[in-house]
Amino acid sequence: MKKISVLGSTGSIGTNTLDVVRKNPAEFEVIGLSAYRNVKLFARQIKAFRPRIISVKDESIVRQLEQLVNLSGIKVCTGEEGLIRVATHPAVQTVVVATSGVISLRPTILAVEKGKNIALANKEPLVMAGQILMERVRKNKVRIIPVDSEHSAVFQCLQKEKTKNLKRIYLTASGGPFHNFSKEKLKNVTPDMALRHPKWKMGRKISVDSATLMNKGLEIIEARWLFDVAPDKIEVLIHPEAIIHSMVEFLDGSILAQLGIADMRLPIQYALYYPQRKDYSFGLVDFFKIQKLTFKKPDLNRFPCLKIAKKAASGADTNACVMNAANEVAVTAFLDSNLGFTKIAGVIANVLKKHKPVRNPGIDEIFTVDAWARKEAGLLCSQQ
Ligand SMILES: NC(=O)c1ccc[n+]([C@@H]2O[C@H](COP(=O)([O-])OP(=O)(O)OC[C@H]3O[C@@H](n4cnc5c(N)ncnc54)[C@H](OP(=O)(O)O)[C@@H]3O)[C@@H](O)[C@H]2O)c1
Repeated sequence: MKKISVLGSTGSIGTNTLDVVRKNPAEFEVIGLSAYRNVKLFARQIKAFRPRIISVKDESIVRQLEQLVNLSGIKVCTGEEGLIRVATHPAVQTVVVATSGVISLRPTILAVEKGKNIALANKEPLVMAGQILMERVRKNKVRIIPVDSEHSAVFQCLQKEKTKNLKRIYLTASGGPFHNFSKEKLKNVTPDMALRHPKWKMGRKISVDSATLMNKGLEIIEARWLFDVAPDKIEVLIHPEAIIHSMVEFLDGSILAQLGIADMRLPIQYALYYPQRKDYSFGLVDFFKIQKLTFKKPDLNRFPCLKIAKKAASGADTNACVMNAANEVAVTAFLDSNLGFTKIAGVIANVLKKHKPVRNPGIDEIFTVDAWARKEAGLLCSQQ
């Protein structure tokens, strides 16, 4: 029986993870769960899984939770410290990191130091501190198994291959809801429009990132650290059918791809069972129905966030951290209808312009830079 904790169990990845667990209840014990403020759903999850330890945003959420579910026998924690406790509980073997944003960085590093394997959906820890996180992973001889569908695809393609034989990674992108929009039309994009992704049902922040193509930029940085590959060997390919989840090209020109339906339970299940492959499928690809798979180059002129991310990906410095923080602030402002869709890239570019990158930063420097970038981006958003 695999003993797991899920950080962010009330989110899109978190609920899909618990769906995988429900399909095979005898094979898992849910030791810990964390949510932020979705009390109703969290209460249902606690009733269903009776974890040993939970964490939520703060004491006021704990009080609301107590009205809905009996918490006796469960260790109840709050805030970042709570996430750390859920992630590092002595009984846990694998931590599914499915929170959004940067809050999981410290809990993930500490879980690695306690010898836990990580099933990683949350890309921000690798974007902010990929070098540090991967060093700790190697030192503590644990594994990060990617849950992001593209990285799961690359991970699967590399199973029997040596990274030194790798020529290029093709990260595929559905292109988001606006890949055919003109520059003019993009100016009128609203939060509601951006949240309607054509292929994937995801949380709010990643849905906007998919629409701006920043998500693909974050994925380049994620892939760079996960697979120890130079960023210029990572190519983005728009593939609207979202059947090929990514590909790797080897020195001899051979290409391996991983294909499947667009359902996050597939990479989640793969990560939870790795190195075994489970015989349960959530749906099959019907090639006769699809008939053709198409590809095109991303348009960096209409989607400048990807251009910014490619540049920030090129160094081992704090630029990626600044970009990530500024993007998070700008996306929040857009979702609150305080910033236009096409202004997101401008905010990020201007914060980066002001930043003097620090090479090979330590963890404290990363948090300092992250806080600075958030403040700068907040100021810029308020001036729009
Ligand atoms: N969704 C996908 O298909 C997908 C695919 C690939 C990668 N990812 C990555 O996976 C991560 C999660 O994505 P998602 O779509 O599942 O996000 P989501 O639906 O927004 O869920 C986020 C989860 O994190 C919790 N949370 C939010 N802020 C928190 C904070 N400050 N402290 C503690 N917990 C907090 C939320 O709690 P409450 O709901 O209780 O407030 C929720 O459980 C992201 O980094 C995303 O880029 C997602």
